[in-house]
Amino acid sequence: MKITISVIKADVGGYVGHSSTHPKLIEACEEKLQSAKDKGLIIDYFVGRVGDDINLIMTHQLGVDNPQIHSLAWEAFKEATNVAKELKLYGAGQDLLSDAFSGNVKGMGPGVAEMEINERPSEPIIVFMADKTSPSAWNIPLYEMFANPMNTSGLVIDPSMHEGFEFEVLDVKEGETYRIPTPEGLYDLLALIGSISRYVITKVFRRKDKEIAAVASSQKLSLIAGKYVGKDDPVMIVRAQSGFPAVGEILEPFARPFIVEGWMRGSHMGPLMPVAMHQSNVSRFDGPPRVVALGFQLSNGKLIGPRDLFDDPAFDEPRRIAYEIANIMRRQGIFEPSRLPEDELEYTTLPMIISKLKGKEVKKVEHSDVD
Ligand code: F6R
Ligand code: MG
Ligand code: MG
Repeated sequence: MKITISVIKADVGGYVGHSSTHPKLIEACEEKLQSAKDKGLIIDYFVGRVGDDINLIMTHQLGVDNPQIHSLAWEAFKEATNVAKELKLYGAGQDLLSDAFSGNVKGMGPGVAEMEINERPSEPIIVFMADKTSPSAWNIPLYEMFANPMNTSGLVIDPSMHEGFEFEVLDVKEGETYRIPTPEGLYDLLALIGSISRYVITKVFRRKDKEIAAVASSQKLSLIAGKYVGKDDPVMIVRAQSGFPAVGEILEPFARPFIVEGWMRGSHMGPLMPVAMHQSNVSRFDGPPRVVALGFQLSNGKLIGPRDLFDDPAFDEPRRIAYEIANIMRRQGIFEPSRLPEDELEYTTLPMIISKLKGKEVKKVEHSDVD
């Protein structure tokens, strides 16, 4: 049975500030998706949340980039925006960049990850949702899951994974995509994806049969809007088990917290903290960045779940380590590498300061002339 999983996310109003989502916004989205389910447009749905982002997880049979599904998501976010406006929540409608919806939410603000699959006899999937970070946050974990045998023993042990995986990498500045097969292309892959402000892994395929294994959102809101409109908090779908990494291999990279771009004002570096959905509200310096992992079993497109996979005492220690890294980074304050380098800042204050200072210099010269 061919099934499409569509995860479409947006921040349409924060509660309080950018720290969390109001339950009434979730309800507004649920109502919209329930009526689409009743009409048979979608098979099933779950409305997830992380920090100030709402994540619509939908299953259907219409394929990826379907205008009906995208407009359903758009309408759900518009309903939620109306509620956010009523409650005067913060930044109501901030990720809906245009009033004129044209059938596809890509480039309009929301983040999208979609895959069409032939549902296997048993199909475990994991939907990752992150807040206060950017799409390149998935670079390290996707490399670990699909190309690092020290993380994923299955690459060595499981014959159906032994041929390796192929990565699709997007250059977000030039818009080019590259296909890199591993293990032989591993160093090429790392050469690109180590540059987190520019290269983003968008898809992963199993080489043996070209089956899609993972898909990530790659929207760069800052590039779409040409100005700062909020951080492009990413989502990703990963298939698990039977020739794909096991659930535990997929979660394992997050047990060794790593540092990502984002956090306060989208302009800092901070640890990605793996949390349960109820722990995803961000209060410490608007962070630190969070990731939630929701596991589902698909059953003819029905979403059996979610299991909130980081809701496990085994992730208490990674959370503590992430917090320790957060403290170290905070000690660095406004100085790099805590603050992002100038061309990665989400605000354009620095050039203004430079021209102001240059202005002063010119003035000084004029003054001395008069003297
Ligand atoms: C980062 C984020 C927040 C805001 C910060 C300032 O992705 O959402 O850290 O950048 O709270 O927000 P404004 O400029 O809206 O006051
Ligand atoms: Mg926000
Ligand atoms: Mg957010």
